[in-house]
Amino acid sequence: MGVTLSRPGAARFRNPCAQHLRSQAVADLSELQAIASSCQGCRLASGRTTVVFGEGSPSATLMVIGEGPGRDEDLQGRPFVGRSGRLLDRLLAEEAGFERDAVYIANVVKCRPPDNRDPKPDEIEACRPYLDAQVALVSPKVVVTLGNFASKTLLRSELGITRLRGSVYPWPSEGDSPGLGGTVVVPTFHPAAALRGGGEVLAAMRADFVRARRCLEAVPVRGKGPL
Ligand code: URA
Repeated sequence: MGVTLSRPGAARFRNPCAQHLRSQAVADLSELQAIASSCQGCRLASGRTTVVFGEGSPSATLMVIGEGPGRDEDLQGRPFVGRSGRLLDRLLAEEAGFERDAVYIANVVKCRPPDNRDPKPDEIEACRPYLDAQVALVSPKVVVTLGNFASKTLLRSELGITRLRGSVYPWPSEGDSPGLGGTVVVPTFHPAAALRGGGEVLAAMRADFVRARRCLEAVPVRGKGPL
């Protein structure tokens, strides 16, 4: 586990690029992004154009986590800017009531896997401290995980997305360090699956984004008093 909260709004971050630095305090997302931008923590570094760190509101109540950058994302340095991203924007707006700017969007791996292959377990592990630190720093109430890789990684589960979706899970999951009480994970399919698979997958995703909105409505916003 790469992150322990030292105080609200800060994260202690174990840098996979510099194992001799056991850990370092990271004050905010900009500082974390600066570290990630030169990361050589796994083989994906050699093939990337840019590190696609993530973007959005640093105080978002809703965070979305995808798998990894594709070609468009690698070129532009921004997550979900291609066809999957356009569908994600629609689901956020139509079912959860959020404009893209109001949420925080990140990926499990920050560098594009060659030929859009699946990220490998050691690549996910190398990138995990960044993801954990992002979740800790944003401290969202709800995290929507898109597809197998994001859902299994966040929930530390061997179950596939078809089994995981339809329920809401507490985060951190067992085995992670405590510190973010109240955050829940809502797993759903990856937008690419809806683009490939048509109606049923899309209907399930719509239901999951409604579920995310209901979770937000049910949970008081931290530090802003009861709803
Ligand atoms: N798919 C992902 O999982 N992430 C992106 O950023 C783009 C496509």
